[in-house]
Amino acid sequence: MTSNTDKLWAPAPFPVAAAGLPSEVRIYEVGPRDGLQAETELVPTDVKAEFCRRLVAAGVSTIELTSFVSPKWIPQLADAEQLMADVSLPADVRQVVLAPNQRGLDRALAAGAREVAVFVSATETFASKNLNTTIDGALAAAEPVVRGALAAGLPVRGYISMVFGDPWEGQVSSSQVAAVAERLIRMGVSTLSLGDTIGVATPGHVHDMLASVLATGIDVSVLSMHFHDTYGQALTNVYASLQAGITEFDSAAGGLGRCPYARGATGNLATEDLLWMLHGLGITTGIDLDALTDTSIWMTQQIGHPTASRVVTALAAAGS
Ligand code: HMG
Ligand code: MG
Repeated sequence: MTSNTDKLWAPAPFPVAAAGLPSEVRIYEVGPRDGLQAETELVPTDVKAEFCRRLVAAGVSTIELTSFVSPKWIPQLADAEQLMADVSLPADVRQVVLAPNQRGLDRALAAGAREVAVFVSATETFASKNLNTTIDGALAAAEPVVRGALAAGLPVRGYISMVFGDPWEGQVSSSQVAAVAERLIRMGVSTLSLGDTIGVATPGHVHDMLASVLATGIDVSVLSMHFHDTYGQALTNVYASLQAGITEFDSAAGGLGRCPYARGATGNLATEDLLWMLHGLGITTGIDLDALTDTSIWMTQQIGHPTASRVVTALAAAGS
């Protein structure tokens, strides 16, 4: 005979809306690119392709697939062409690839890219460590990439890294970030991701930074926030961003990733942790949390180390 206490509850967030927040949010899934780029063991291309297909099957509709960067700098993504050829996602999936220079754009276009992302830094030191150049040099390299992609009919996303702090330079001024943001928007990027690469932001800082960027006249609808959870602040920073009107967030399934050139940067905000909060707030994302969790559990088996996601860990334990 089964008693009530034998029946385990299948955990899920209780949806209760909070005033003033959007009803829908777009998740920009960076797991295959940002998540995997710093894995030291090479992940086979067919595993990456299967990861992408499982993400789409879970309802992910925007995926950053890979980078057309120098394979000497990011060996893990040297298979960018092969992945693009193998993965074949439905036409309505927004799939994005990084290109740091003309060579990257040429490779991306030849591989059938649908959207390109350029990436620059808010700080001189990270521009040097990540791209071997200066802030101006990175913007100068991005400019022909943006122009060429737009001419080929592709939208372009712009990234700014080290927006809230830099491991070498410390605090980053919001006016410096706003100036870089304006230059990317003037080039023609249609979305702009503000990256807390080392995860040091706190909610007041998020409000302050967004106020500076929005004061330039940039519309809030073009902004995306890219939080890392290094100091456990990512979700609270998402909440602050929602209050400011942001409706797109970057995250990685299972909390994959760190930055290969930023000391102390741990994983991206886990998509599952983000979904738990958003769905709990009654905000729709189109993603099935259980299916995504299964994908991240499968991925831990492929890469051989545990997930950084609290939600994946908890749901896996609850299901065992
Ligand atoms: P460099 O060494 O100054 O440039 O690197 P180079 O022109 O001397 O090129 C070096 C070699 O790479 C040459 O080959 C080039 O041909 C080749 P070699 O002559 O030595 O045989 N090369 C390329 N090969 C393939 N594709 C290319 C390409 N370009 C040059 N596109 C470079 C400059 C920009 C290439 C390099 O610094 C680079 O690739 N950096 C990428 C670093 C990167 O991908 N970092 C991670 C992404 S940023 C990030 O994760 C942060 C973000 O997620 C937001 C956040 O978390 O905050 C976006
Ligand atoms: Mg990142």
